[in-house]
Amino acid sequence: MTIRWYPGHMSKALEQISELVRKIDLIIEVLDARLPYSSSNHLLEQVRRNKPCIKVLNKNDLADPAVTRAWVQHFQKSAGVRALPLVAKNIPETKSLVKLCKQLVPQRGNPGYPIRTMVVGIPNVGKSTLINTLAGRSIAKVGDRPAVTMRPQQIPLNNGILIFDTPGLLWPAMDDQGGAYRLATSGAIGANALDYTNVGVFAAAYMMRRYPELLKERYKLAELPDTPHEVVEAVGRCLGCIMSGGVVDVHRAAETFLRELRAGKAGRISFEEPGTPEDVEAELLRFAGIEVREQHQQAPTVPE
Ligand code: G4P
Repeated sequence: MTIRWYPGHMSKALEQISELVRKIDLIIEVLDARLPYSSSNHLLEQVRRNKPCIKVLNKNDLADPAVTRAWVQHFQKSAGVRALPLVAKNIPETKSLVKLCKQLVPQRGNPGYPIRTMVVGIPNVGKSTLINTLAGRSIAKVGDRPAVTMRPQQIPLNNGILIFDTPGLLWPAMDDQGGAYRLATSGAIGANALDYTNVGVFAAAYMMRRYPELLKERYKLAELPDTPHEVVEAVGRCLGCIMSGGVVDVHRAAETFLRELRAGKAGRISFEEPGTPEDVEAELLRFAGIEVREQHQQAPTVPE
């Protein structure tokens, strides 16, 4: 599987974000609660200029609550960082985000002195959904193309917050194979970048290791088969992905399996936990039939 990575675009996006950071009080970084590490861009830390940052762990309705609690503790070890799990469409939960903004920037948030924020994150984590809920109306998406020349617009919310509306777009770090497969499993990487069968087999391997009971329950399996490929076949049989001759259509089975996982049909699942040892990660990849190799990609230059 080839997952494309765009250092040029990332560099441009970071340059825009770095420029804007000077003008704001607070960064709201939207992450996917199911994979907060892989859905972040670690270079953001370098352009943050010590501005307070709220890591919104969005799509919390889909994530494993115990794992999310562990992520919150993990993130809050960093100075100036707070982590808040939420569901972007949930109005009361987004109100707690506003409250946290006011706690972190107590000197602003009054009429005429709004808290100036920017919302950043990789595609598909729920930035627009969050902005729309905070604004109480539908705000047109800024071109989700980092190369587009941008003059930041401002979206005043009526709760003392001003959002500098930039594409806010970061690319995932993609610095490890497991991260790339997790992003693909979650749907953050578009269909043209991935091979459904490989990703489905990876997801099956992960589910076998981490959530075997959910897998058995959802797909009515008395016992789990020995290999992730066989799990995808068993899921295909359960979901009726059968070709003529009674053979399982593995590609369709993998696609349907991924769609189910993303929609939370098998239960609340997190795809990564803080502090997972490297050998556990490598073993998972090997179990999924993925060749584990050293991957070094040149990071884009971070602007001053
Ligand atoms: P982006 O601006 O960061 O690119 O993300 P966007 O808001 O467009 O959201 C991407 C997808 O994630 C949307 O689904 C959206 O509904 C969904 N989403 C956002 N927040 C949450 C959340 O807290 N929980 C869950 N379960 N889903 C969330 P979509 O299928 O692409 O679009 P739609 O059909 O829902 O409009």
